[in-house]
Amino acid sequence: MNQKLKTAFAFAKNIFETGAITETSREVEIDICKHLSNAKGKVFVEFGIGHGNITQEILNSISHTSKLYAFEVNKEFCEHVRETITDERLIVINDGAEQVKKYVKGPVSGVVSSIPFSFFSNEKAKIILENAYELLENESYFSQVLYTKFNFKKFQMVFDECKLTSNKKLLTEYIYHCKKITV
Ligand SMILES: C[S@@+](CC[C@H](N)C(=O)[O-])C[C@H]1O[C@@H](n2cnc3c(N)ncnc32)[C@H](O)[C@@H]1O
Repeated sequence: MNQKLKTAFAFAKNIFETGAITETSREVEIDICKHLSNAKGKVFVEFGIGHGNITQEILNSISHTSKLYAFEVNKEFCEHVRETITDERLIVINDGAEQVKKYVKGPVSGVVSSIPFSFFSNEKAKIILENAYELLENESYFSQVLYTKFNFKKFQMVFDECKLTSNKKLLTEYIYHCKKITV
């Protein structure tokens, strides 16, 4: 069985955790990382690594002296990524995005997320977004991919500037690019 098919089976098996049956597309991997800085010594955060497709793209985008804290609730996915991506900059954390402040003290230069907000309570979504906002540096982004536009308002309530882009090929993937601006 090829890797893409194995990932699809693993996602489908854990549908209530993953909220998806396939990995996000290549177009999304590129678009969601477009605001990441490649300046030296920065800290980045990823929420929901799955089998690590976006994780790899983040590592390709940031500098060699930066770090990536990657959160994932599924233990098997964490083990898979630890085995397949050997990169000293990557710290895989088997815990939920809502616990970010336990592990990361900030300042964070960018958050990239593919966790299924549509499955979360309003309270849980609010905690995740507010914690991330608090940790982020001024002028940096929280970028999120989702299969719907319906969560956009939750992001607008926390972030200072939010833009929505959609994957033109697969019309079902929306990327929210949300910026923190403290004047
Ligand atoms: C839609 S999949 C995306 C996986 C991969 N990044 C991609 O783009 O294909 C969402 C991932 O988020 C994980 N997840 C769900 N809730 C989470 C949470 N609260 N914190 C961290 N990861 C979570 C799931 O286990 C799953 O691996």
